[in-house]
Amino acid sequence: MSLSVKQHCLFGTILSYSGDPFLAPWQEVSLLQTQGCIVIENGHIIDMGDAAIAQKYPRASHHNYGDNILMAGFVDAHMHYPQTAMIASWGKRLIDWLNTYTFPEEARFCDPDYAQMIANRTLDLVIDHGTTTLATYCTIHPESVDAIFSAAAERNMALVAGKTCMDRNAPDDLRDTPQSAYDQSKALIEKWHNTGRARYAITPRFSPTSTPDQLAALGALWSEHPTCVMQTHLSEQTDEIAWVKSLFPTARDYLDTYEQFGLLGENGLYGHAIHLEPREIDRLAEVGASVIHCPTSNKFIGSGLFELAKLKSRGLSVGVATDTGGGSSFSMLRTLAATYEIGQLTHTPLHAAQLLWLATQGSARALKLDHTIGNLAIGYASDIIVLDPTKIPALAQRTQASNDLWEILFAIIMLGDDRSIRATWINGVNQKNHS
Ligand code: GUN
Ligand code: ZN
Repeated sequence: MSLSVKQHCLFGTILSYSGDPFLAPWQEVSLLQTQGCIVIENGHIIDMGDAAIAQKYPRASHHNYGDNILMAGFVDAHMHYPQTAMIASWGKRLIDWLNTYTFPEEARFCDPDYAQMIANRTLDLVIDHGTTTLATYCTIHPESVDAIFSAAAERNMALVAGKTCMDRNAPDDLRDTPQSAYDQSKALIEKWHNTGRARYAITPRFSPTSTPDQLAALGALWSEHPTCVMQTHLSEQTDEIAWVKSLFPTARDYLDTYEQFGLLGENGLYGHAIHLEPREIDRLAEVGASVIHCPTSNKFIGSGLFELAKLKSRGLSVGVATDTGGGSSFSMLRTLAATYEIGQLTHTPLHAAQLLWLATQGSARALKLDHTIGNLAIGYASDIIVLDPTKIPALAQRTQASNDLWEILFAIIMLGDDRSIRATWINGVNQKNHS
């Protein structure tokens, strides 16, 4: 081993998966190893098993997390980093909330220094909450894309992001054109896509804010760059759907406003997807696209109940996300608590193993990154978090009353937040500020 190669041994209870706990009984595919060890080197897991394997790595530094739980870092598959400073803004419905709070805040990102400040703030916040990968919208300003990709590169963080394109139904200073959306997105793809851990997402905000010409231009761009993901919003609120119908009178449904213009595909990420027609579900399943569940946002903006069990049973790929700032928390633990509650309201009691899988492998699959992130196994990225239930008194006392690890994990989901994240390892470095 060369002296410049840094190895770390992380000791604790290890949570990993060998399959999808929605397709197989969760007990068969969800693995909890007590007194385990993960060995990391150069940003990857090079060994994993019983604590005794550490003997094979005499030069490694040791990090003993006792009986805390080590798991893959959370993957937030849909958020808006430019909305960080206006999270928790009171509003009536989606469109009113966008016009009143979101658009004025996004207009501030014409200033690259402001964009850089919020990009850094967002990544520090999410890392504190245990998120190691984000798929984020930016604003129409290319500088907002540069800001978040460079902030992620400084932290060696895997990031999916793209310029948000809008050429109608938005304020003058937040509109581009079909041509400038195409040209600027293309230049950003050439600058960032597949550089280090960066992946570009072609990003029409949603069909009400793009003309057919802009949707067609972005559809053409996607066909020229098929390894990019494409992210947008779909069927979030009933009044939004009615608006889409009036803007696209010949479309068969909301999804068709994307499909007609080449914006439906396997690498497509469709945020919310609450009020879907049967044809939309069939088409999303046929092409292998992913839908992203944003439960705190759906409660906060009053959008409706996402039908997770139904969509999973139809074979859809489903990720979960905060949707900050429509979502009311940066925490994927709070997001999973809301996923559980919406599951209850749709008669689907989700197990902790299923919830934690959704926030790791589920979201990583949606982003097409599941071969490198979202699980703990040899060869995977060393994006690892440490869950500690002792820091929150209500959670600590609940944990003491239990000897079963799944019971503890469920309590961490329901009662935990950033205080329950002891460390956030990204690419071989603990990036959590106050661990
Ligand atoms: N639909 C279009 N834009 C947005 C947004 O910024 N947040 C949410 N929740 N929905 C949207
Ligand atoms: Zn969104």
